[in-house]
Amino acid sequence: MATSRISLTRFLIERQRDKALINADLRLLIETVARACKAISHAVNKGALAGNLGSAGTDNVQGEVQKKLDVLSNEILLEANEWGGNLAALASEEMEDPHPIPTHFPKGEYLLLFDPLDGSSNIDVNVSVGTIFSVLRCPKAATGGGYCEADEKAFLQPGTQQIAAGFAVYGPSTMLVLTVGDGTHGFTLDREMGSFVLTHPDIRIPEDTAEFAINMSNMRRWEPAVKRYIDECLAGKTGVRGKDFNMRWVASMVSDVYRILTRGGIFMYPRDDKNTAGRLRLMYEANPMSFIIEQAGGASTDGNGRLLDVKPEGLHQRVAVILGSKNEVERVTSYHKG
Ligand code: AHG
Ligand code: MN
Ligand code: MN
Repeated sequence: MATSRISLTRFLIERQRDKALINADLRLLIETVARACKAISHAVNKGALAGNLGSAGTDNVQGEVQKKLDVLSNEILLEANEWGGNLAALASEEMEDPHPIPTHFPKGEYLLLFDPLDGSSNIDVNVSVGTIFSVLRCPKAATGGGYCEADEKAFLQPGTQQIAAGFAVYGPSTMLVLTVGDGTHGFTLDREMGSFVLTHPDIRIPEDTAEFAINMSNMRRWEPAVKRYIDECLAGKTGVRGKDFNMRWVASMVSDVYRILTRGGIFMYPRDDKNTAGRLRLMYEANPMSFIIEQAGGASTDGNGRLLDVKPEGLHQRVAVILGSKNEVERVTSYHKG
């Protein structure tokens, strides 16, 4: 076995010691999230053998039916992150309000947001799912210098304020994709060793692409700019684009974004007549993915402007998302302006 493998731990230590990009608290936080992702990966992998498939019989705050794995993944992330002393509070797709740190544990300066199980409609059909997370700094109280009141307001910071973001995808391999602001890096889980190994350093997204990802069943409801863009892609070689396009839609954002990081492409979940604000959630889906995509040389917009600049108004707010290869994202943006 090669001895020069770079583990996630070594990668983070180097960012802390050599580059001063992160501190020990943030390193512990990222390692703890990664450890929770290993546990979720294990639960996903066991599937029916552990009785993990199917509905939990409850709804979340957005009125969506929770799968057993939505609930379990949320519990794994909460339990793993409560005691480390580095968090002021946590927020999740599966919980209406921020989750405070229990009083018997110390508090820290960070806020952690997550989508514990992304793509949960794919669980029962054995298609890849994942976990998305975002880290913000908790604003200090105006008086005193103690840590902030970790209420919903503390979380409502634009995506530009993120200090780390990542996602795991539980696919043929379990992968962790991470940014702390110096590029986007991919790690593969070595199950025997139990560690994430740096296998995809400094991922770069090609600026051009001939592949798009969108749920075509919503076409009749799209806004005109998106309809125009997709119509032109579908026209292929004989149309204005002068080339044929390919289409993919996994319906797990983690997988669609991972594919774009690997070979380019454009991913769109636009606002439409049914989802007038968009479908994806700003704080724990769109923002972390946009940070990761930008750090890999791609672009991300809500159609009106840079997605990371959107000023959040609610923890579970939805937003239109158009991200991926830079030149294609710019083209869709120009159609919105037109
Ligand atoms: P979640 O399972 O966390 O609710 O997220 C699912 C999201 C995203 O992963 C995916 O891109 C999209 O919903 C799929 O939407 P459709 O069901 O419209 O295809
Ligand atoms: Mn999701
Ligand atoms: Mn989810």
